[in-house]
Order: sequence, then C-alpha cells, then structure tokens
Amino acid sequence: MKVTIIGAGAVGASCAEYIAIKNFASEVVVLDIKEGYAEGKAMDLMQTASLNGFDTKITGSTSDYSKTANSDVCVITSGIPRKPGMTREELIGINAGIVKTVSSSLLEHSPNTIIIVVSNPMDTMTYLVHKTTGIAKNRIIGMGGALDSARFKYRLAEALEAPISDVDGMVIGGHSDKGMIPLTRMATRNSVPVTEFLSKERLEKVATDTKVGGATLTGLLGTSAWYAPGAAVSSMVRAIACDLKKMFPCSALLEGEYGLNDISIGVPVILGKNGIEKIVKIDLTDAEKSKMQESAAAVKKTNELLEL
Ligand code: NAI
Ligand code: 2OP
Repeated sequence: MKVTIIGAGAVGASCAEYIAIKNFASEVVVLDIKEGYAEGKAMDLMQTASLNGFDTKITGSTSDYSKTANSDVCVITSGIPRKPGMTREELIGINAGIVKTVSSSLLEHSPNTIIIVVSNPMDTMTYLVHKTTGIAKNRIIGMGGALDSARFKYRLAEALEAPISDVDGMVIGGHSDKGMIPLTRMATRNSVPVTEFLSKERLEKVATDTKVGGATLTGLLGTSAWYAPGAAVSSMVRAIACDLKKMFPCSALLEGEYGLNDISIGVPVILGKNGIEKIVKIDLTDAEKSKMQESAAAVKKTNELLEL
C-alpha cells in the first residue's frame, strides 16, 4: 500500500506520522512546494521509526510528482489554513486553485488512486475534485465528519464524565461551524442513549461545543488543528488499505440520497478497498432533515463561488 500526502504542513505531517505509527502502509510519500520541506519532515519522521516501532518508509519530495506514481491513496492537505476569526469558506479562492492543480497532477501519475480531500472549505473542495477530474465517485472522499465525530465524542465524554471509549456518536452535514449536525439523539454510552444521562440543555451545549470545535482550537493555537485531523485521515486510510468496511461520516457525492443531488456533504459511508463502498441511509427526524437541507444549502452557496 502506497500513500501520498500532498502538503507537508501541520496536517500533512500529522497524517504521515499516524499512518506510519499504525504500520499498515509500506510507503508514504509527502510532497510540498516549499523547497526541501517535505524531505525534512520525512527524514525527521523516519528518525522516529526505531523509537515508535514502524516499518513504513516515508520519503519527501519537492513538487516531483513522479515520486508519487502508483499511489493507492492520495491525501490532499495542501492549501492555507484558517487564522483566528476566519471561516473555512474564506479559504476558497486560494485553495480551489491549489486543489484543482494538485488533483490533476496526482491522477497523471496514479490514475487509479483514491483521493481523500482535507483542504478547506472541504465539502466544496471535494465537489471541485468531482467536477474537474471526472473519476468515479467512490474514489473521491472528503474528510470532515470523522474529525467532527471525534470532537463530538470528546465533548460527550466530558459531559458524561465517562471515558471516551464508553461513548459513541456521529456528526453529519457540512464541515462548517453552522452546517455540522451532531446526532445527539443517536449518541450512546455503552449502548444506552445519552439522553438517559444528560439534560436537553447539557446536550445542546455538547452540540454547540462540537460545532465550534475547529474555531475553538484555531483561537487557542493561532492556526487550525492538526493532531485530530491527522488521526482522522489515518483511520480512513487504514479502513481503505485493510478493506475494513468501516463506517465513517465522510463528504460523498450525493445523487438523490438524503433528498440531495449534485453536492458533496457529510453522510455515513462504508470505507473499504474501493473507497466509498456504500452510502448508508439512516432515518432522520423531520428536524434533522431540515438541518441537513439548511447545511446543504450553505455548501451549495459556497460551491457557487467555484469557477468551474
Ligand atoms: P499548513 O500551512 O501547515 O500546510 C499546508 C502546506 O501546503 C504548506 O506546507 C504549503 O507549502 C503546502 N502547499 C501549498 N500549496 C501547495 C501546492 N500547490 N502543492 C503542494 N503543497 C502545497 O496548513 P495545515 O494546517 O496543514 O492545513 C492544511 C489544510 O487543511 C487547510 O486548508 C486547512 O483548513 C485544512 N484542514 C482541514 C480539516 C478538515 O477536517 N477537513 C482539518 C484541519 C485542517
Ligand atoms: C478544523 O475543523 C479548520 O477544518 C479545520 O479543525
């Protein structure tokens, strides 16, 4: 299994590190446009191999796509991140140009690759890859829901005063502060609905804290987060590499599912060796359906800014 990561910045390097530590890939190539940067990150990470006990070979490349040839999975993290006070949507101008060029260069050298899009505004960047590459929809996956769900579980565990391994929950919808939909109704602690333990007001706070999870970290760090995003990507890549048929909320191109068309947005999917193997349809309440429609309308508005 060969994985390429475009962008050796905070998220790209974190992806490479977690993929290596999980020890399922034979090779990880990290590519960046900054001269020597990816090579430096790759060398530093390789010097953790004997300490962390992995055999994955990590190499770096400055803009040489021939090094990425025949990758099974490519992750796009190149682009600018949020600064405090910025929304993900404000990144569109610069990041759209980068994501378009990068995806086309990747496919020249790895025509059969599965692409995971991380760069923001992620749902729109995922849609852009669909529109500009024309490759099969199961091979283009946006990462947002896996991260947002991890943040949801963190907030649920905090509210329940429980270990995180006791809780389960999922966030669907657009990867934006207003658009994400933490499914509090379906969240559980050891199979018991969390509504048995938490008041409506406390659950609303959990949902609010989850939705501003990215902005909270951007405020604290001065740039957007990287550990949890890298861990989320690595879990998705592992599900594909090991054909786990594991369910994650991911940004997927919808053709009628959830009453939506011509949009990439977060819904539960099964990830396996073919990428998105299935879009899972869950029964939403009327209130959840209307939140999904609102979220989709906001993503479509951002999509309109693309020069396709
Ligand atoms: P960063 O600034 O640390 O790294 C970005 C890297 O991309 C830089 O090293 C830069 O040189 C490189 N780059 C720029 N243009 C390039 C090109 N054409 N080809 C190759 N490399 C190029 O930023 P960070 O924090 O790693 O974030 C990356 C992106 O991921 C941002 O757009 C951010 O908003 C997004 N993000 C998305 C998340 C999600 O859940 N979908 C979570 C966290 C970040
Ligand atoms: C995050 O959620 C900004 O999308 C980035 O951390």
